[in-house]
Amino acid sequence: MCGIFAYLNYLTPRSRQEVLELLINGLKRLEYRGYDSTGLAIDNPESNNDDGSKIMIVRRPGKVKVLEEAVTEICKGDEYKTKLTTHIGIAHTRWATHGSPSEINSHPHRSDLDNSFVVVHNGIITNYKDVKRLLEKKGYVFESDTDTEAIAKLIHHLWQQHPTYTFRELVEQAILQLEGAFAIACKSKYFPGECVASRRGTPLLVGIKSKTRLSTDHIPILYPSAKKQRAYNKKLPADIPVLQPAPFNDDTPAEDELLEVKEVEYFFASDASAIIEHTDRVIYLEDDDVAAVKDGVLSIHRLKKSLDDSHAREITTLKMEIQQIMKGNYDSFMLKEIFEQPESVVDTMRGRMFFESKTAVLGGIKEYIPEIKRCRRLILIACGTSYHSAVATRQLLEELTELPVVVELASDFMDRHTPIFRDDVCFFISQSGETADTLIALRYCKQRGALIVGVTNTVGSSICRESHCGVHINAGPEIGVASTKAYTSQFISLVMFALVMSEDRLSLQTRRLEIIEGLENLAAQIRKVLQLNSKVQELAKDLYLHKSLLIMGRGFNFATCLEGALKVKELTYMHSEGILAGELKHGPIALVDDEMPVLMIVMRDPVYTKCMNALQQVTARKSRPILLCEEGDEETKSFSSRYLEIPRTVDCLQGILTVIPLQLLSYHIAVLRGCDVDCPRNLAKSVTVE
Ligand code: G6P
Repeated sequence: MCGIFAYLNYLTPRSRQEVLELLINGLKRLEYRGYDSTGLAIDNPESNNDDGSKIMIVRRPGKVKVLEEAVTEICKGDEYKTKLTTHIGIAHTRWATHGSPSEINSHPHRSDLDNSFVVVHNGIITNYKDVKRLLEKKGYVFESDTDTEAIAKLIHHLWQQHPTYTFRELVEQAILQLEGAFAIACKSKYFPGECVASRRGTPLLVGIKSKTRLSTDHIPILYPSAKKQRAYNKKLPADIPVLQPAPFNDDTPAEDELLEVKEVEYFFASDASAIIEHTDRVIYLEDDDVAAVKDGVLSIHRLKKSLDDSHAREITTLKMEIQQIMKGNYDSFMLKEIFEQPESVVDTMRGRMFFESKTAVLGGIKEYIPEIKRCRRLILIACGTSYHSAVATRQLLEELTELPVVVELASDFMDRHTPIFRDDVCFFISQSGETADTLIALRYCKQRGALIVGVTNTVGSSICRESHCGVHINAGPEIGVASTKAYTSQFISLVMFALVMSEDRLSLQTRRLEIIEGLENLAAQIRKVLQLNSKVQELAKDLYLHKSLLIMGRGFNFATCLEGALKVKELTYMHSEGILAGELKHGPIALVDDEMPVLMIVMRDPVYTKCMNALQQVTARKSRPILLCEEGDEETKSFSSRYLEIPRTVDCLQGILTVIPLQLLSYHIAVLRGCDVDCPRNLAKSVTVE
């Protein structure tokens, strides 16, 4: 959705120019999350310091590049070169939910014309209208259409009511009033050098960089004192509904247990990719954590104590490499990620597929396999591309697990209030691990006692943390908004699960062995498919001026049709539809004539004859389809002059090889149409709103 980045240096001299560059760089890494407008706030060089530092806000509609140009212009003055020992800047890249992508709707949002409190926010505040109405009654004048502005103004209002409260207490008080999902970072002219951040339902992590190694691996969690909690309750404005904090916890760590460090820098970000170039030491915040930095000390607070709360937040070491989030020699992240697939599929299988002994082991769910084998049904729930990976593997899962397998789009699953039982096993597949629809469905199933299995690419993500067990697909960071390598890795992860489930089924051994052999050869075959790139580019030249593209197939390749059509829509803004070839005669054939572009997947698998029937029906309507067929399949090729030959693998893995030409095709059509491949219009990589 949106991307948040904040930076705080304590006793580490940095000029304003350096801080600005750092913020812009952070936003560039997060741009995939949303890119219709951007903004940042730093201390104004003209601050007179008698009432704290004044805050300067720069906001622009458009991508980070536009903000960067504005910032470069601003940085020309000498005052931007002076080193400051302590400074805090907050920044944001937006995917509009409330109000158009204009300057006034861009973040940071402010409490008043003096920029006393400024806030960046990712998520949606569902009760913002109530809060806004209250604040308007108190005389606040709103300038934007956003929900976020209500947060900044609410903090200001609370500050006026409680002038003795600390910055952190004001934010704590404010978030008690908020409903919905948020990750926020706040800065105030009344609290120079302090940053307060919090999250509920959307991701936020804190990076810590200090010259000396930290003496601890944990940051203790603090709770408000009983006195403060009573004060919170008493002094709340009468017309804002009060959420009761839990009882006071007597085990509150003493203040001197806090992490004391000198010369430290803190980074707050929606995603680790914005932090890794600065430090690999991070803390993933949990829902309702309030992280505050004051005098260089980071403390983490919670308002309520629940039984399963841990006493500290662990500082973890990121495994990501900086090269993984750089484009390298490629023009776009998407192309890089498509070409990474020979390696990413191997990474997914590393330590899990043992080709010599012909075995598969999934460490993250190993202990749960007996329970899963006893289940009533497997339910695979996801959105977008991740959903297609479920469609792609459903047939194999049915075959190898011999269980009923249901695949569900998370939003529809929730709309239906689908019945879920204790003996259901629910898989939640998500590249980001943060997709709101999927996460909500996860919580729904968890409440009903089902076993929750997460299949994600993002270590530390919400889905990953809230699952009972799971599989990290290990595809490496995926930055291009259109998912590519995550799809093939999700596909393989689910195939490996099917192998694990059928390990002791004698009747299935021949099938298992051919699949294991197929997996072993996959990387080499993907390399071969990628060699078709220039041929695919030529086909794109035939297609890019058309309005539509129909992609047909069935059986194990139906998911490729859906995924290919999604890629074409996302990247090229052309209409495209994945059509089950079996359904052709029930309607879609009416679209077929000598003008309509058609692509057909006809592989030598159990549904080959049926696919050939569809091919004949299409060519009989004067269509000249592009064919995806098996290497050396002369009979199929004879139906069209335009074809791509795909290496043969076992039927259930064929979809991994057939999807790659479609990823490339959508990429080339998008380039020819002049579209932004990494950041398609109106989309966001991680959709953290329902
Ligand atoms: C968004 C993205 C899609 C993605 C879907 C699910 O819509 O634009 O590319 O497939 O979310 O994302 P997830 O992170 O849950 O796999």
